[in-house]
Amino acid sequence: MMRQQIARVAAALALAGTLGAAQAQTPPDDSLYRALGGLPVLQKVVDDFMANMLADRRIKHTFAESNIERVKQKLVEQFCQLSGGACVYTGDPMREVHQGLKLSNADFNALVEDLQLAMDANGIPSHTQNRLLALLAPMQRETVSR
Ligand code: HEM
Repeated sequence: MMRQQIARVAAALALAGTLGAAQAQTPPDDSLYRALGGLPVLQKVVDDFMANMLADRRIKHTFAESNIERVKQKLVEQFCQLSGGACVYTGDPMREVHQGLKLSNADFNALVEDLQLAMDANGIPSHTQNRLLALLAPMQRETVSR
């Protein structure tokens, strides 16, 4: 009886060990990256997203002195990395980039709307849009400073 129990515990531990090893070998989850359509679609989304922001009376002034091509390139890297694609974000930290801009929650909401419109225009289903937006939500704290 006792010996059977020990054998069972030993088997469970061995199984857990195997699962642990398997998990360590599991490749990163790129399901969101693939659902978004990968880099070609992300590039189009960011193009449209930036065009929307630059046409948006509420926030276009914030980009007056920015290198738009650089911001777009960094956004593509960031969305790619966040969604699990094989990219590395090479831009500056969110807090540093945005603190001098004195952005408000209303500015943040305007940006989210412009991104949603860009994703709509590229046929991204709302479930997939929400998965990306959920990853961006924590950055509200880092970008809004008033
Ligand atoms: C989830 C929220 C946000 C994300 C993920 C984000 C992402 C980024 C990225 C990746 C850059 C480029 C960084 C670099 O050049 O190294 C950037 C720059 C910039 N962002 Fe944001 N941003 C967010 C919120 C906002 C909001 C709410 C506004 C204004 C309404 C804004 C306005 C700008 C401007 C003006 C720049 C250029 C700054 C410069 O020229 O130095 N961002 N953002």
